[in-house]
Amino acid sequence: MGLQRKDLLGLEHLTRAEIELILETARPMLAVLGRPVKKYPTLRGRIMVNLFYESSTRTRTSFELAAKALSADVVNIAVATSAVVKGESLVDTARTLEALGADWIVLRHSSSGAPHLLARQVRAGVINAGDGLHEHPTQGLLDLFTLLRRKGRIEGLRVGIVGDVLHSRVARSDIWGLTRLGAQVVLIGPPTLVPPGIEKLFPGVEVSYNLREVLPSLDAVQVLRLQLERQKRGLFPSVEEYSRFYRLDSERLRDWRAKPDLVVMHPGPANLGVEISEELANSPQSAIREQVQNGVAVRMAVLYLLAGGRTEE
Ligand code: CP
Repeated sequence: MGLQRKDLLGLEHLTRAEIELILETARPMLAVLGRPVKKYPTLRGRIMVNLFYESSTRTRTSFELAAKALSADVVNIAVATSAVVKGESLVDTARTLEALGADWIVLRHSSSGAPHLLARQVRAGVINAGDGLHEHPTQGLLDLFTLLRRKGRIEGLRVGIVGDVLHSRVARSDIWGLTRLGAQVVLIGPPTLVPPGIEKLFPGVEVSYNLREVLPSLDAVQVLRLQLERQKRGLFPSVEEYSRFYRLDSERLRDWRAKPDLVVMHPGPANLGVEISEELANSPQSAIREQVQNGVAVRMAVLYLLAGGRTEE
């Protein structure tokens, strides 16, 4: 079985079978990464370009490592020193990269829908590495993969997504992925950070403003970064006030009766001490380090499948 797509733009329009195919393909990729020689010749002669208009550590680096592990050539465009600063548009930049031989353009952009626009304009495959407040599909996939490895299943799990849902493209990809694979999702945060009526956009998703009340029922939590840089007006009285009600730490997990095997995730980068304590983030209960490591395997799977690879191989 293969993935019959040129682009990966979001999880909203992937079927359950397509998501499961990517997760299944990521498993042998993770095994490759555990070997002394972390390389397969599969994508030799192919070119992947990282085109990031916003900052990134995890996504950009793991796409580069994933492509290199499959022997593709990688080009990283530093937008700040590219012809973009002379006014070259996104589409013209992508067409230039395509003329130079790019097979895939991995795009991070502040505008929601930018990868979708590009995918219609170029023959190269376009992979969304985060577009505005819309989606971050490979983060959603690596979160699913991490949860699957920790819990052995996604179907039937009850997963809380805690914090700044309003500004989070990760939350949107997580919601699509988790619900498509049969998990129950609860969005938890102050009313100003959970878009009103969001449960109507995502059927089956619950909303709670009370972490303490809902915590004992959860199998996993994805703690979101408080995106202070995207906030145009005060959406809560103070960071201290936010932390009082929504910060997770080990003491709180115990006092608020979280399940002992609750899996704690965070897409990173984390505001340690604000939405999650440093001690919890580095505890055995935290899957944050695995999320980062699994990101390479999942992105290898995506590249492999977009290149026409099939699971039988
Ligand atoms: N999770 C995530 O997208 O991290 P980066 O911004 O470092 O890529």
